[in-house]
Amino acid sequence: MKKITLLFIAIVTNCLAQNEAKHVTGLIADKAMVVSAREEASKIGIEIMRKGGNAFDAMVATELALAVAYPYAGNIGGGGFMVFRKANGQAGCLDYREMAPLASTKTMFLDKDGKVIKGKSTETALAIGIPGTIAGMFAVNKKYGSMPMSEILKPVIALAEKGVIVTKKQERTLINYRDAIIKANAENSTFNTNSKENDTVKYPALAATFKRIAKNGKDEFYKGQTAKTLVKYLQSKGAVITMKDLAKYEAKWRTPLSFNYKDLKVISMSPPSSGGICLAQIMKMTAPFDLSVMGHNSADAIQVIVETERRAYADRSYFLGDPDFVKIPLKQLMDDDYLKQRMSSFDKNKATLSSDIKEGNIKYNESTETTHYSIVDQYGNAIAATTTINDAYGSKYYCDELGFFLNNEMDDFSVKPGEPNMFGLVGNEANSIAPQKRMLSSMTPTIIEKKGKLFMVVGSPGGSTIITSVLQTILNVYEYKLSMQEAVNAPRFHHQWLPDVITFEPNTFDTDTFEKLKNKGYIINEKTTPVIGKVDAILILPNGKLEGGADFRGDDKASGF
Ligand code: DON
Repeated sequence: MKKITLLFIAIVTNCLAQNEAKHVTGLIADKAMVVSAREEASKIGIEIMRKGGNAFDAMVATELALAVAYPYAGNIGGGGFMVFRKANGQAGCLDYREMAPLASTKTMFLDKDGKVIKGKSTETALAIGIPGTIAGMFAVNKKYGSMPMSEILKPVIALAEKGVIVTKKQERTLINYRDAIIKANAENSTFNTNSKENDTVKYPALAATFKRIAKNGKDEFYKGQTAKTLVKYLQSKGAVITMKDLAKYEAKWRTPLSFNYKDLKVISMSPPSSGGICLAQIMKMTAPFDLSVMGHNSADAIQVIVETERRAYADRSYFLGDPDFVKIPLKQLMDDDYLKQRMSSFDKNKATLSSDIKEGNIKYNESTETTHYSIVDQYGNAIAATTTINDAYGSKYYCDELGFFLNNEMDDFSVKPGEPNMFGLVGNEANSIAPQKRMLSSMTPTIIEKKGKLFMVVGSPGGSTIITSVLQTILNVYEYKLSMQEAVNAPRFHHQWLPDVITFEPNTFDTDTFEKLKNKGYIINEKTTPVIGKVDAILILPNGKLEGGADFRGDDKASGF
């Protein structure tokens, strides 16, 4: 994470500066649009819709095309979440998050003295959770698809066979992660880390895997030849995933988390993602403040947002985990009186200290490098989907025979209460490891209605910064009247309770703003500032057309008709 952070600083600094002054509008389309991390994937999604396919067909095509064109995060070795809103207003969501293997234990990443073993939950094969992406795509296709999987897979297979052109940014990440990928695999790994900008890279093993899946269906991945090859590979690397683990995996339809913010209805992901609930808490706590009068990215507005983020992330750390394993007091956490009381310690003259903030007092019965894409189709259906293998190229374990990377999602569990994970997030019992449990996520695929009509589709990668990136994008459009593209381009900041610092994107906020915040006692991280989020979003304009916001921080691209 650190390496990539440093590498992107220069690019981001440059781009942010260039984008600041201009009035920018993203791609405008009449009826249908896909915005994703790679042009190839956006185009394949659009191609499916041009053939008459709906947003669900386009989703499957885009997700699987990202596994080919964007191996950095696109995947079939990971998992994700999808939120949808159909043209008739019906909303729902799908959880295809990875699960802990049957043989996993609560203390599997600790030494005999109970100390966390550095790197074990990120760099070893034990970091790998049971992949959910293929199950997720078949679940979508079965319930809402209008085209056969074999048809949807055709352009994806063609892309893997024809190859993908390496971009400048991709060349940089390959250089950055070369040693780690070789360490996890071998010098002669078929995943070519030496590719240069403009090279064409073909993925024949992945194409063959997709062909078998197209022929034999979901069981090919979870019970068939692909499953056998995968388990053999994983066990040779020291993973504990078995055929039984794969056979038992299921994607789950869940009820999305919805709430109102002024005249917006926000529909977002429910647990095991923390995204929706944190977004709800933050937006409900900011609602009484007049952010638009305070001014976009002003010290006053930053202060309000930071204080709401601080309180929401403290609750996240304590209360949230897999709802199939822990009881989450969702209603209480979103209750207006509770949130008002949470903000009662807000002081506009000084920072609250994170050491003075703990989880809220709620009484309830205790029962015991990612990528986002947004889609709107010509029929009025909308999809927000975020998918991940966690870190860049996941665990770095790449199965040559099958042609894909495996995740290191086990690090999203709280491996020990109070110990930060790779995103600095701390957790508790609710998010401890247990067999078949899903690790808590921050992914926040979100769809927004305004006055009962589809208004925005939004989401982002970025670990713990996903929630705050999505939040700022929504506020940028709704409170500050920026276009979709401007809202995506605008510089971002982030606070997550612990560590007690505000992180800003580099060279984008003026020193005057920093001074005002410092005078109130805020600690500002000005040095190792990372890229914060990579938002891909669609706004429905008053005339019914669609505006794409594709994040310049990556190679992201909107495509539409
Ligand atoms: O589910 C989560 O919250 C993380 N595994 C997401 C990882 C991520 O966004 C990395 N990308 N920058």
